[in-house]
Amino acid sequence: MSRRILVTGSASGIGAALAEQLRASGDQVIGLDRHDADIVCNLTDPAQIDAAAASIAGELDGVALVAGVPGTADPETIFAVNTIAPQRLAEGLAPQMREGAAIVAVSSVTAGRCPLDVQACDAWLAMTPKQLANQSEIVDGKTAYEYSKGLLNRWVQTAALRFHPRNIRVNSVSPGAIETPILRDFEVSIGEEHLAKAEQMTGRHGRPEEIASVIRFLLGPDAGWINGADIKVDGGLHALRAAGKTVEEPA
Ligand code: NAI
Repeated sequence: MSRRILVTGSASGIGAALAEQLRASGDQVIGLDRHDADIVCNLTDPAQIDAAAASIAGELDGVALVAGVPGTADPETIFAVNTIAPQRLAEGLAPQMREGAAIVAVSSVTAGRCPLDVQACDAWLAMTPKQLANQSEIVDGKTAYEYSKGLLNRWVQTAALRFHPRNIRVNSVSPGAIETPILRDFEVSIGEEHLAKAEQMTGRHGRPEEIASVIRFLLGPDAGWINGADIKVDGGLHALRAAGKTVEEPA
């Protein structure tokens, strides 16, 4: 059965790969991006987000919140695009989402570096991007990125609860390093050496279609009992690190 799915970040990388996979399996994709998309929308602008949500007529079976910016952007933009926009767009689309629909947000394994507890996350989630960027803990783009994704994961849990009565599932996927244009920015914000080490440990970086396929699974009925979850997709990097494996001592 053909489904109707909104994909943000559809112009590049993971979002483009997802749109391609969904279309190939017969689904109708509405792509949203700041360029080259069915809906052109700058996700830093709340008015544009609201207008984009209002412009979608008819029912949606799924929403994939993929768009994001790296730690090389300024902290206010990072929080606006990575944390606040997904919430605002998903909540704005709630009327169009049919019962049994699914929402998937793309987070990051670096969300694990956000040290905030649940109560603090909920307080931070009530702030504007500017207020978030001005918190004393946010010392640079790298920390802003980590916190933005940590907050996104917490939002996924609260949204899962809120959408539960309508049988709409909300989950996130947390990729490790993936070969997309954003990776060059991560080399700057995280460090080339750090990423090279990760690549050596896992053998390669991930491919956008390897994240897209997990998002597609979470959007579909085979994931019907997965709700409020975050799925790490990092080629085993965290397991290898936790086991104390190094490049010299492969698994
Ligand atoms: P990408 O740079 O190829 O794609 C990101 C897309 O988001 C672009 O099409 C861009 O135009 C769109 N976007 C950015 N700011 C926007 C705005 N203000 N309004 C509308 N659209 C905007 O990067 P990639 O890798 O596909 O990233 C997708 C998601 O995956 C992001 O949320 C990113 O944080 C996350 N991620 C990526 C990793 C990687 O290594 N590639 C690792 C972990 C997470």
